[in-house]
Amino acid sequence: MTTRLYVVGLGMVGCNQLTDEVTVALDRSDRIYLLHPHDIVAEALSDRFGTVVRLGSEYEEGQPRSAAYDRIVDRVVDAAVDADSPVALATYGHPTVGVTPTNDIVQRAEGAGVDVDVRPGISSLDAMYVDLGLNPFETGLQMFEVNDLLLRELSLNPSVPAFLFQVGTVGSRLYTARPNAPERFTRLRRYLERFYPSDHEVSLVRAATLPFESGAIESFELSAFESMADAVHPSHTLYVPPARSDGPVNEGYLESLHSRDRLDEITTDRDE
Ligand SMILES: C[S@@+](CC[C@H](N)C(=O)[O-])C[C@H]1O[C@@H](n2cnc3c(N)ncnc32)[C@H](O)[C@@H]1O
Repeated sequence: MTTRLYVVGLGMVGCNQLTDEVTVALDRSDRIYLLHPHDIVAEALSDRFGTVVRLGSEYEEGQPRSAAYDRIVDRVVDAAVDADSPVALATYGHPTVGVTPTNDIVQRAEGAGVDVDVRPGISSLDAMYVDLGLNPFETGLQMFEVNDLLLRELSLNPSVPAFLFQVGTVGSRLYTARPNAPERFTRLRRYLERFYPSDHEVSLVRAATLPFESGAIESFELSAFESMADAVHPSHTLYVPPARSDGPVNEGYLESLHSRDRLDEITTDRDE
């Protein structure tokens, strides 16, 4: 089967983070369906690769985002089924990170006999590691979609850094372009205060999305969350740094990690 639908991530910074394999997929595609907020990215892609169809204007004030997602899924799957040459769905960042329609598109297209090829991109999390100077192998990591966290009341570990995605949508899954009221953030603040002190400093993080921009980090005390209502943007992620640092608990395991005898016990000679 030859690929008729490419699902690709463009990375975070305009078109500057296109990988070679994504470039090849876009070159092969007759038409690119684009989920991206910036006009100049649509223009740059169309100059370089041909026809670009913007998706995303389907959102309607006060309506479930899911209704818009259904329309996006229908458009892309119908195009892939009907087209003689491949088409592409391109999203900013990584195409399966937080992009609700992607999985439906892949499943529906494959169900209709379309061969789908998904190619990753640099995600907002990858960019934020750099902006925050974070090595998750040293610190561990917690990441949640903010409404999922509150719905399932998942426990937070205050000694491990946490990322809360889609903080700007907290409290409602309906689409709106209206400004936030301070009350939007009260439930989240109270929930976080179960795990962190009120004066714990958290940050709204926005990684750069255009080549001439830098990332922005705005920090404030948890207790002041409501006062930040005006500043919260749909592309913000809330970063909650650890409130304490726990050293190794298992001293025996720590010792064994550096023991030559232990290494010999858990490995074999190649020829045995
Ligand atoms: C619909 S998801 C899309 C994520 C995207 N596909 C990715 O790979 O990161 C949108 C959420 O991703 C995060 N996000 C998107 N752009 C960001 C940016 N420039 N900086 C930090 N977080 C961002 C925010 O939490 C935002 O609410």
